[in-house]
Amino acid sequence: MRLHDKVSIVTGGGGDIGRITALRFAEEGASIMVADISEEACVKTVNMIKENGGKAEYVITDMTNPREVENLVQKTLDSYNKIDILFNNAGVGSGGEKKLPDVSMEQWKKVIDTNITGVFLGMKYAIPKMESGSSIINTASIAGIKGQKLTSAYSASKSSVIALTKAVSKEFGRQNIRVNAIAPGIIDTSMVTHWKETEKWPLLSTANSLKRIGTPEEVANAVLFLASGEASFITGETLVIDGGTLNQ
Ligand SMILES: NC(=O)c1ccc[n+]([C@@H]2O[C@H](COP(=O)([O-])OP(=O)(O)OC[C@H]3O[C@@H](n4cnc5c(N)ncnc54)[C@H](O)[C@@H]3O)[C@@H](O)[C@H]2O)c1
Repeated sequence: MRLHDKVSIVTGGGGDIGRITALRFAEEGASIMVADISEEACVKTVNMIKENGGKAEYVITDMTNPREVENLVQKTLDSYNKIDILFNNAGVGSGGEKKLPDVSMEQWKKVIDTNITGVFLGMKYAIPKMESGSSIINTASIAGIKGQKLTSAYSASKSSVIALTKAVSKEFGRQNIRVNAIAPGIIDTSMVTHWKETEKWPLLSTANSLKRIGTPEEVANAVLFLASGEASFITGETLVIDGGTLNQ
């Protein structure tokens, strides 16, 4: 098993990418601490892992709240005594397509607080408890590489995740704590459901080399690679998982 005896926190673990990755990690031997703002979603993930023979618990956590993130880390240590992997994945979409002057302060703050401050807080509290060989994977997006029109706050937040990942990877390389990011393209999750009803969808969903959208399982396999010892000489990188969207 590729994550035998490892302990992983999965934030946004009640969402589609988080849930499938948590399940994949558990199949490979990791004990999982699921963190999400939605208790119902946390319970669903934990039950699925347990039904599959894996080990999982949850802590309802708002990743924008420092006290709650500190509590998440402490509860993980209380339950499992260590933290080997942090999948820093909780995030929100842009909250509707708008040109920049129409983005409200409320919308801007929600996206920035969740997508970048949440990633900062996850690392801030987990890293001091991590030992040599640990791995952090932060969820960015191809929007953070190409700068996507009409979703400026989202693009800015995900671009920040990439820069933060690089910076922190340099700070903790000597301790052999690896810090990488993933940049998914369009993945079939609840985050893209609203697009499916728009007239853009046929074009949007095939705008890559593979002519289809990705699945949470395909993201989970890439995250598993970065989390595992197979990626032991990879740090500060952003792994693009987009079916070739950025190459078009
Ligand atoms: N689906 C895509 O096409 C796509 C593409 C690129 C990047 N991403 C990123 O992947 C990650 C996972 O998204 P998903 O597609 O699985 O969507 P999702 O909506 O299914 O999952 C996101 C999860 O994050 C949780 N969450 C939101 N705010 C939170 C907070 N403050 N604290 C804790 N949890 C919070 C939600 O409750 C939800 O369970 C996000 O960071 C997203 O930006 C998704």
